[in-house]
Amino acid sequence: MASSSIGVFDSGIGGLTVVKELFASLPDSRIVYFGDTARVPYGTKSVATVRRYAEEDTELLLQYDVGQIVVACNTVSAVALDVVTRIAGSIPVIGMIAPAASEAVKVTQNGKIGIIGTLATVASGAYEAAIASAAATAGKTVTTYSQGCPLFVPLAEEGWQGHDVARLTAKEYLGDMIESGMDTLILGCTHYPVLADTIHEVVGSHVRLINSGAIAARQVVAASSDSPDRDHLFMVSDLPSRFKNVGERFLGRDLPELHQVIYKESWVVSR
Ligand code: DGL
Repeated sequence: MASSSIGVFDSGIGGLTVVKELFASLPDSRIVYFGDTARVPYGTKSVATVRRYAEEDTELLLQYDVGQIVVACNTVSAVALDVVTRIAGSIPVIGMIAPAASEAVKVTQNGKIGIIGTLATVASGAYEAAIASAAATAGKTVTTYSQGCPLFVPLAEEGWQGHDVARLTAKEYLGDMIESGMDTLILGCTHYPVLADTIHEVVGSHVRLINSGAIAARQVVAASSDSPDRDHLFMVSDLPSRFKNVGERFLGRDLPELHQVIYKESWVVSR
């Protein structure tokens, strides 16, 4: 691999849930991170728009000599992984969906798997397809239950973990899933681990939570060769101050200096 820098992108702070794992498992690797905070959320937008954002985000990371790209966004992984892979060329791309789906199939005892994600991720059916494929390989019978939880993203961006609003929102979204008797719940959005304690409290401690970013990060461990030569680079597309506060609280450590990047697009009338 030419460069051991690991490129990571998400619509906002969600990708830091993957970076947290990478800091722990690959402390000597250099991270090049982009959080598209000016355009978050992705999960409520159309597939065409998310695919365009995915293309632009990938092009940004490729300017920084990355040796692999972690798509630390389930929404992009669900609807635009092919876009990232095409633009990345020979650079390996790691998405969020398949690793979490395999892990859920592996750990479920009763075959009842819940999936929560953005509206775009849930509408794509990507998790259901990946779970069906993993279950067929494992010779297991599984049933899935999915629920879009769009309000979790702004709650996470706001740093409202443990807040009563987060608890009430989780109860509202997850009531039917709890009734289903699931024993495994995929956090199919990288923002959701920020709210994991609240989600776990609401669904019950007997339900195993699958952190999609943490599971996918294990694949980066396998693919990377470390060379601690340069500082990490963290970029965001909106002003960095709130990202810094919430991100540092979540990571439990200081973030390096954050750089704002602006996409210089020209408006085109679609026909
Ligand atoms: N963190 C992202 C995901 O995993 C995107 C959330 C959003 O921007 O809506 O889907």
